[in-house]
Amino acid sequence: MSVVEVARDGEVAVIRLNRPEKLNAISTEVERALHKALASGDVRSSGAVILAGEGRAFSAGADISEFEGRSPEDVLRYYNDTGGVYEEIAALPQPTIAAIHGYCLGGALELALALDFRIADDSAVFGFPEVSLGILASSGGLHRVTRLLGPARAKELFLLSERFGADDARRAGVVTEVVEEGKALDRALEIAARLAALPRDAVAVTKQAIDATSASPREAALLIERLAYAALAQTQAAQDAAAGFGS
Ligand code: COA
Repeated sequence: MSVVEVARDGEVAVIRLNRPEKLNAISTEVERALHKALASGDVRSSGAVILAGEGRAFSAGADISEFEGRSPEDVLRYYNDTGGVYEEIAALPQPTIAAIHGYCLGGALELALALDFRIADDSAVFGFPEVSLGILASSGGLHRVTRLLGPARAKELFLLSERFGADDARRAGVVTEVVEEGKALDRALEIAARLAALPRDAVAVTKQAIDATSASPREAALLIERLAYAALAQTQAAQDAAAGFGS
């Protein structure tokens, strides 16, 4: 058994963090296995991807036992090595969903935020403990939260909040939907199957266009939209849909 397992449910790839004895703490080994999982045929050929955690937590965050004694050089190398996996998952063309139960702290919340949607069950506990550990969220999470919620709300989350539950996360805009305990993966599978049944190019280009334009000047954003439309309108799926509508 690997610390990251991949399975298929129809057109959906389900990636599971599988280090339950350490609450799926994200070690270098986990990051390396996640990188491998993302490159696997099961993920590459899927129409949607779910990330979940085995055991009693989604994940308790970065593996703190690896923090001690890292030099600045080690840290810089880390981001060009296994630390790049957060951006790899964000860059997947398929829609991605985190199915969250139990703890989702620090680096785990950063990882979940690198996905497109977050379905949390009532047992979920969120938080960014980084500042209390003398560091900061640096796997893209600081930027993602600030872009998602704005600087004032981001400061609340990183500096004022301690742990918070699924309903608070939903109210803050961090979570897409809250479901009853034990149901996060089922609900994520339902949504993922629906997304996987949509025309894949349209889904991928829409996702990528949203990511590319959210921080772009209006003129650039409009140009991206229009060029993306020009490309998508020529695809078989678009042609078939238009023909079907007219007949
Ligand atoms: N890194 C490394 N190991 C971790 C870990 C982490 N982030 N989170 C949990 N673990 C390990 C524990 O050391 C323990 O291992 P052990 O059984 O070999 O001692 C095991 O996972 C179970 O955790 P435990 O602390 O016994 O569970 P708990 O239910 O009492 O507490 C937490 C759960 C999440 C509150 C607690 O583990 C914790 O505070 N973890 C750190 C969370 C954190 O700061 N994450 C952010 C990192 S950026």
